[in-house]
Amino acid sequence: KQTPTALLMIFGATGDLAKRKLFPSIYRLFKKGKISNFAVVGVARRSLTNEEFQQNVKDSVLTFAKESENIDEFISHFYYHSHDVANSTSYKELKEIAENLDHQYELDGNRVFYLAMAPEFFGTIAEHIKSEGLTETKGYKRLVIEKPFGHSFDSAQELNDQLRTAFSEDEIYRIDHYLGKEMVQNIEVIRFANAIFEPLWNSRYISNIQVTSSEVLGVEERGRYYETSGALRDMVQNHMLQMVALLAMEPPIRLNTEEIRSEKVRALRSLRWMKKDEVNQYFVRGQYGKGTIQGQEVPAYREEAMVDPESNTETFVAGKLMIDNFRWAGVPFYIRTGKRMDTKSTKIVVQFKDIPMNLYYKSEEHLNPNLLVIHIQPEEGITLMLNAKKTGTSMKTTTVKLDFANKSVDTMNTPEAYEKLLYDSMRGDATNFTHWDEVALSWKFVDNISEVWEKETDPTFPNYASGTTGPDCADELLAKDGNFWWPVDNLD
Ligand code: BG6
Repeated sequence: KQTPTALLMIFGATGDLAKRKLFPSIYRLFKKGKISNFAVVGVARRSLTNEEFQQNVKDSVLTFAKESENIDEFISHFYYHSHDVANSTSYKELKEIAENLDHQYELDGNRVFYLAMAPEFFGTIAEHIKSEGLTETKGYKRLVIEKPFGHSFDSAQELNDQLRTAFSEDEIYRIDHYLGKEMVQNIEVIRFANAIFEPLWNSRYISNIQVTSSEVLGVEERGRYYETSGALRDMVQNHMLQMVALLAMEPPIRLNTEEIRSEKVRALRSLRWMKKDEVNQYFVRGQYGKGTIQGQEVPAYREEAMVDPESNTETFVAGKLMIDNFRWAGVPFYIRTGKRMDTKSTKIVVQFKDIPMNLYYKSEEHLNPNLLVIHIQPEEGITLMLNAKKTGTSMKTTTVKLDFANKSVDTMNTPEAYEKLLYDSMRGDATNFTHWDEVALSWKFVDNISEVWEKETDPTFPNYASGTTGPDCADELLAKDGNFWWPVDNLD
């Protein structure tokens, strides 16, 4: 991999993402000595001096990274340019700034353009970056972009075509911040580095896999965006399908970007295509009503700012995905995600099939199936649920837990998702970014569902109270198969 020497140009440098995630992440990389030759140009509409911008960066680091060692040296790498995205002169000025900084910091002409802003400007920015010669540099040039990457397959393709006028596919790094999470990256290691799991990872031994990502927060200030998105586009198209792809893919022949991607793409290509009249048998949705969260009354989605009081936007989705290939035929992958639920938790539960015969039926009604639980957040770790003998004179059984908590290994130095992804983009590792082929397949799958839902004028919302585990239809979806959702907070 290359040395991460680069000029980082952050568009949207006065925004929330830059403040909460990017500046603290760059600081951590700096503090750990992972980057030293670097400069950052913050770009945004607001007029700020370099000093004012540096102060903003400092505040963000103090608030969100909660550290201050060498902070003044750190912020001296930051510069600001007040910018109008549609004005060519502005890009000419940026080019000059970039060339000066390249020279001053010996950055080998390497440039990372990070678009941390509303996607409607992505196309214009990419086109100007190209036409004003910002990509004419002797080093590498890369474009890092945030979601949403389009709103449907068609809009994503249009956006991609615009970006491709200035950057090749290899130069485009599409962020899915779930791919930067420690335990999401661990899925591959758990699967491919353990002889006890790999042979069992198929339809012969696995009954079903459940992926849950529940949030306690509501839509907050993002009503305007969320009304055009909903949980399906906001979470399923990207994070949920990415986790499913990692769980379902075949072992790559080598651990490099191309091989892993091509296996993920093949997994996504194997997703069962639902006919329009089947969609509601496989996918259900919900919207939160009023409720109580941590003892506080919270409003219904329809009462949130910038939300239509009769909105039919879903804030919860549960689905059953079938992966029609040799490995997974007949094994449902259940996914669910929602806002304003009872806990903030992302977990994967792999439920193994029952053993062929229960020898302990006389003392116990049934044996619990073995479960492998991958805890993605807030805690990080793995739990294996096994059956063992209850201490005592009889041969009664009980379920025991084998727990591995990732955090206890190294609490302080676990890098945040953005830290890892930024670092990867600077050193040219695109493994944990989504390739256009994955984006395209995911959008087609999701469009097929949203096209059906958009035609339904009365989905009887709200159908779950804030602070609960979601609507009944999600439980019914699994009950039809004789399954149920394993609780996310306590498996005992
Ligand atoms: C984002 C969605 O991609 O992921 C948000 O747009 C959601 O709506 C967030 O809240 C969840 O991320 P995390 O890391 O908190 O699980």
